[in-house]
Amino acid sequence: MQALMCLLSFSAGLYAQGVEPVRAKHGMVVAQEPLAADIGVSVLKSGGNAVDAADAVGFALAVTHPVAGNLGGGGFMLARLADGTSVFLDFREAAAQKASRDMYIAPDGNPTRDSVFGWRSAGVPGSVAGLVEAHKKFESKPWKELLAPAIKLAREGLTVSTPLAASLQTAGPLKQDSESRRVFLRDGNPYKAGDVFSQPELAETLQRISDYGAADFYQGKTAKLLAEQMSSHGGLITVDDLKSYKVVERTPLSGTYKDFQIITGPPPSAGGLGLLQMLGMLDGTDYAKHGANSLEAIHYEAEAMRRFYADRSEYLADPDFFNVPVKELLSPKYIEWRRNTIDPAHATPSDAIFPGLPKALNASARAMHESPQTTHYNVVDEKGNAVAVTYTLNNSYGNGITVPGLGFLLNDEMDDFVAKPGAPNMFGLVGGDANAIEPGKRPLSSMTPTIITKGGKLFMVVGAPGGSRITTGVMQVVLDVLDFSMNPQAAVDLPRFHEQWKPDFLYLESGFPKSVEAGLQQMGYALRPVDGVARVEAIVIKNGTLEGGTQSRYHGKVAGY
Ligand code: GLY
Repeated sequence: MQALMCLLSFSAGLYAQGVEPVRAKHGMVVAQEPLAADIGVSVLKSGGNAVDAADAVGFALAVTHPVAGNLGGGGFMLARLADGTSVFLDFREAAAQKASRDMYIAPDGNPTRDSVFGWRSAGVPGSVAGLVEAHKKFESKPWKELLAPAIKLAREGLTVSTPLAASLQTAGPLKQDSESRRVFLRDGNPYKAGDVFSQPELAETLQRISDYGAADFYQGKTAKLLAEQMSSHGGLITVDDLKSYKVVERTPLSGTYKDFQIITGPPPSAGGLGLLQMLGMLDGTDYAKHGANSLEAIHYEAEAMRRFYADRSEYLADPDFFNVPVKELLSPKYIEWRRNTIDPAHATPSDAIFPGLPKALNASARAMHESPQTTHYNVVDEKGNAVAVTYTLNNSYGNGITVPGLGFLLNDEMDDFVAKPGAPNMFGLVGGDANAIEPGKRPLSSMTPTIITKGGKLFMVVGAPGGSRITTGVMQVVLDVLDFSMNPQAAVDLPRFHEQWKPDFLYLESGFPKSVEAGLQQMGYALRPVDGVARVEAIVIKNGTLEGGTQSRYHGKVAGY
């Protein structure tokens, strides 16, 4: 094994290097759809702050990027202001009051597919409330100005790009719903690149949000129409659920890694805690010695991932319903013990790894309470305010249902709960009681919006979509920049891997040398190919210059000025 390790040392040299990031001096937006990124930059150029731009991008993506941009989903916003304060807005979807623990269990005791498909798969949407709340807190530009570009695109139509046409044409769930077929698939005459795609119902919904703010979506015409449609289709969300939806402001999690301060998402994000725990396990090893994506680096990172995902299954959930043992899971002693269980030369079988806190703590942790598609964007403004937003419908195009008369798709976020202990959800994640369904509760998330500082100064803004792979994807890009000194473009383009404890596979994107794959197999990893681990986007601030990266093989944009 030692010989193999040496042979593969410095294998980062085997990967494509030398790609340059987009650079800008004043402000930058990185988003997964170019029209939205440009809208964000024009808000910055006209004097808006990073939160203004983030709001405008959020509404624009709901029009231009229907696969994940949304009004009918939820998400997280992490902001670090130029004065050094940071804020986390949790606008994750919540389970309706009529939701119940076993609502997705069939009479034979097995989970149904109703957490993914159909009206009952939707949680109470939080995105509109979240974007409104952000504006209330950090207002700089008039609200209406932030919605105007999205309304124009929805009303007058946007020119369909090749990626949007391809995405719509292959969107299976949209075909199952008559309103989605009409709105997004033109009833069997699918949009082609160059066609004009207008969304008049969505434009009207956005106009009401522009005129009345969250009051319309949660208590006004939109709320009434949504609740009526829910009721007539056997869905759960009522006017009362919408009226009582609240954005929760939470204290971000923070920790240090070498010279860097990591600010990230607290529960119900599992991602932030995972990021800090995995970085903690890697710190104190010499995993980085042989270079990015070397056999040694992959091994240590994968073993850290495996251990975190075991903990995730047991201890992570909505902190308003479950006493998440954050301090214990991030305690240096615990992390050191976890690190010491890593065998330098062999993969540890997942069956030999368990959620790791002492049993007594597990008991008290329980005692307190009685797709995959998502999207991420980063914004930095001229003053140094930084915002990272990840929001989602869960699956691509959510549950595929467009609300008649309202023009937006619904989420299927209920699948992020544990429908049945031990039964995998659509990302293959397993969990237990902590993340069971309860009325008003928010499902556990992998979304990991993260901001990193160095010496008190903004250094990096990063995040990703990718279901359960978000956390591991973000971690790899963070390491590529912090430990391997890559620019953000090179970092996001480097092949990534993913390990999540169960099932016991190491998932690899294409692009790893055969020699590395052979070495991993020899160490005991069962390899599986994966299309993409997570579509990570990052901004890094280097000597006062903004550098942005979005994965070259997709169609996002780094827009700066
Ligand atoms: N729906 C993906 C996540 O929140 O993890």
